[in-house]
Amino acid sequence: MRTKEKVLQSLQQAEGFLSGEALSEQLGVSRAAVWKAITSLREQGYVIDSVTNKGYCLLSSPDILTEESIRSGLKGSLVTEIHTLEVVDSTNNEAKRWAQKGAPHGSVFVADEQTGGKGRLGRVWKSPPKTGLWFTLLLRPQAAPEQVTNLTLFAGLAVARAIRSLTGCDARIKWPNDVVIGSQKVCGILTEMAAEMESVEYVIPGIGVNVNTESFPEEIVYKATSLYLATGKKWSRAAVLQAILLEMEELLNRQQEQGTESVLSEYRENCVTIGRQVSTQRGNIRLSGIAEDITEEGELVVRQSNGSLLTINSGEVSVQGIYGE
Ligand code: BTN
Repeated sequence: MRTKEKVLQSLQQAEGFLSGEALSEQLGVSRAAVWKAITSLREQGYVIDSVTNKGYCLLSSPDILTEESIRSGLKGSLVTEIHTLEVVDSTNNEAKRWAQKGAPHGSVFVADEQTGGKGRLGRVWKSPPKTGLWFTLLLRPQAAPEQVTNLTLFAGLAVARAIRSLTGCDARIKWPNDVVIGSQKVCGILTEMAAEMESVEYVIPGIGVNVNTESFPEEIVYKATSLYLATGKKWSRAAVLQAILLEMEELLNRQQEQGTESVLSEYRENCVTIGRQVSTQRGNIRLSGIAEDITEEGELVVRQSNGSLLTINSGEVSVQGIYGE
């Protein structure tokens, strides 16, 4: 971490004022370096009060996505590189370009705006400047392709957990990985992967969260929401990103220590699809039934009205009571 990130982290963790002397001792840097960091943070829009004999106090943070603002709230070791961009075609495309050049596991690509944001099933994901969190996490799991399909479910669970802990909203998952508040979608995830027959080169879950969106186009207003619309408050995108990355790290560690099933069982508990009437299209046929379970591979198990079980592994599923597609 650079001095500026460390100063910001200390100010965020402090309750009240922190003296320049304490900061320089705590961080092992000179008073001049602390002052330089404070000046530069102020230039970025952080409001930092300074009072003689008391020191510095962080009053407010701007809603900006910089390496410092993101790294200052992270504890673990998942995140390696952070690439912040003002505008990009798609953070998934950016992640792929860097992955092909050898970017490491744990690299994060985040943009204020996407000009070619991609949704699932070839759809467009509108990503206007600064209203939402548009990012992609690059993972390089040592696994066969069929073993990583559940990573995309983990990403949905990480987002639901992060939204709950940060905002108190009861965020849940619509299988496979839309995150909903009530019956409206607040986050979508597009996971792409590059693999050989036997092993995965990289997996890139691309996550779009509607954070401070004030209104949606008429066509989707009934099915979309944002953290702002759900809570009446604006949220810092960096704080949302940090919360998601922390949860993702927790889930990946848990998978390592206790196995995939331990994470999947929490996923099932948080999945609004289970227990509901669902339907999906297979060719010309519309199939429906009650969603009963999620398999170890992340597939949805549906009991049809004739009693037989149907397994769905991708595509679109309509869930009664949750926004239609
Ligand atoms: C969906 O619900 O259809 C998935 C939407 C995924 C959107 C995110 S935004 C960040 C990343 N970059 C993209 O181009 N798409 C994903």
